[in-house]
Amino acid sequence: MTDLPKTFRVKSFGCQMNVYDGERMGELLAAQGMTAATGEDADLVVLNTCHIREKAADRAYSDVGRLRRDDGSRPIIALAGCVAQAEGAEASKRSKMIDLVVGPQAYHRLPEMVAAVAAGQRPVDTDMPAIAKFAALPPRRRSGPSAFLTVQEGCDKFCTYCVVPYTRGAEISRPFADIVTEAQALVDGGAREITLLGQNVNAWDGGLDRLIRAIARIDGLERIRYTTSHPADMSDALIAAHGEIDKLMPYLHLPVQSGSDSILKAMNRSHTADSYLRLIERVRAARPGIAISGDFIVGFPGETEKDFCDTLAIVDAVGYASAYSFKYSPRPGTPAATMEGAVEAQVMDERLQRLQRRLAEHSLAFNHATVGTDLTILIDRKGRLPGQMIGMSPWLQAVFIDSAAVIGEMVDVTITRALPNSLGGVLRRVEVAA
Ligand code: 5AD
Ligand code: SF4
Repeated sequence: MTDLPKTFRVKSFGCQMNVYDGERMGELLAAQGMTAATGEDADLVVLNTCHIREKAADRAYSDVGRLRRDDGSRPIIALAGCVAQAEGAEASKRSKMIDLVVGPQAYHRLPEMVAAVAAGQRPVDTDMPAIAKFAALPPRRRSGPSAFLTVQEGCDKFCTYCVVPYTRGAEISRPFADIVTEAQALVDGGAREITLLGQNVNAWDGGLDRLIRAIARIDGLERIRYTTSHPADMSDALIAAHGEIDKLMPYLHLPVQSGSDSILKAMNRSHTADSYLRLIERVRAARPGIAISGDFIVGFPGETEKDFCDTLAIVDAVGYASAYSFKYSPRPGTPAATMEGAVEAQVMDERLQRLQRRLAEHSLAFNHATVGTDLTILIDRKGRLPGQMIGMSPWLQAVFIDSAAVIGEMVDVTITRALPNSLGGVLRRVEVAA
């Protein structure tokens, strides 16, 4: 028997959906009367893990090990997130320090599982009845200026390299009314921007454009974004929404992964380089100047130099404003893990460098084009230098300013300089606080 924890800390790794889940777990524990601890001495630590790339599980176990304190004591440890989902009961066998294992669709049960730990048990729950979770969570109360809202979870696409269909389960959509209620609560709690989240957010089953339109009607909400989208689910109505809804920001994260049709086929991506480019053209016709962002994998099994050059070519053809790029990492249980034609580590490194150099040129060019223009940023954090504040542009660029501004304020700036990953700006006029 242990005492029930009084303080907790949630550490989230990986994607924005994990950040969202981490916030909800924190709110859930707070609703039980526990307080969030900032230091290393929390009674309960939740490790909200990511499983997308290699050695994720190893890393999670070594993170667990590091939670032992100098005096030999340790907090109650909950393993959550996608590693928890993938490892299940194995996790508590492999590490005696792990007191409970809870998957991404079961964390609404966290309080009762913590109580079970206090009663001497080591509970594991990796069930996947996703929707039950949301209904069991407390309502949202306080929010930062920019909030995440999960509207869809899971993935039915089965790209051959990806673990998500196994760790997050089948695609499911949250009900319209629940989402609108949560959006209103976030705005009431201080949010001015909401990013709708889902592994395949544009597969939300009521039509994402309709949902965006409904949320756009909320007074006090200024900006809407959504991520991550699959090209196959970019409907005409959603594309049109980009031209019609002012609050929908001019930014689209639309992963292509590769520019080679044979690699795309082996990845089971369901688009070709050409069909992707035509899609981008339609999006740009609906919303000129929209920032396109992407994800790339280099060194997928069988990738030749020619395939890789096709990827560089699509990067040039699109002119990405920003991008994430990764070396292929075999994930056990996925079809690609047993494919032939592994690319040598050295070749993979070299391709990643070349790709990232090319992507940096494009983001710098995109950022340069804003120098001298006036735009509005949403202040969301302090910079590292004294007096410096950072706000996001409509195109999701981080803009640094050296003026007093309050987090949550919308501020008009003139852009004065551009770097590959940020902009510098000067204040034009500060909005009068209401
Ligand atoms: N290896 C490398 N990158 C991967 N991603 C997903 N699975 C893998 C893998 N096995 C990348 C994809 C995806 C992003 C979230 O992570 O680019 O879009
Ligand atoms: Fe993974 Fe592909 Fe689904 Fe994205 S669309 S989560 S890459 S399987």
